[in-house]
Amino acid sequence: EAKQYFSKHLLDWYNVHKRDLPWRRSRNPYYIWISEVMLQQTRVETVIPYFHRFVEKFPSVEALADAPEEEVLKAWEGLGYYSRARNLQAAVREVKEVYGGRVPDTQEEISSLKGVGPYTAGAVLSIAYNKPEPAVDGNVMRVLSRYFLLRDDIAKPATRIGMERLAKELIPEGEARDFNQALMELGATVCTPKSPHCLTCPVIEHCAGRMEGAVDALPVKTKA
Ligand code: ADE
Repeated sequence: EAKQYFSKHLLDWYNVHKRDLPWRRSRNPYYIWISEVMLQQTRVETVIPYFHRFVEKFPSVEALADAPEEEVLKAWEGLGYYSRARNLQAAVREVKEVYGGRVPDTQEEISSLKGVGPYTAGAVLSIAYNKPEPAVDGNVMRVLSRYFLLRDDIAKPATRIGMERLAKELIPEGEARDFNQALMELGATVCTPKSPHCLTCPVIEHCAGRMEGAVDALPVKTKA
């Protein structure tokens, strides 16, 4: 069926086509967390050198927690959205104090940290700990809305919640880490906002959006 086909073919494709990105060389939850916060509003190519410098300067939860805020902001300079850096340091200080420096591995605990919304929580739990939690951002909503021909407005919280349900259902047993990254990767490199590369898509055969000629009209998004 369309769901099983999607998950299997997407994973197979990812295993061949995944980009070699610095945070993919590690399963250190702290590194994964840093990368996900940086990637929230900044493109991969921009993030790469910042990521290297940041983890070199602040190699652990402890190191970042103990650093002066101005040093952290200096390392963030150029990435923008500085509240991300401030929230990250506040959250890391809490991890140091409350969790003894270990990044929490439950939805409830990780979601309670400053700046950690549903996407970041799911990304860290799945990528670092291989927990079967969805990680739904704009890229993932675009992929799902096209493949499953979902015309709901992605600006609405209810739509994102529905997509999280669906994304969680799609995770093959024991494959959360790779499956969630595969979804992100497809959105970033193939199922792009403009001129998607459908001819190289691993799941074109059952893509309902493509069958309906609706790919360019999806996802539906009202407000900016
Ligand atoms: N965008 C958000 N998270 C990502 C990740 N882990 N790898 C590549 N692109 C991403």
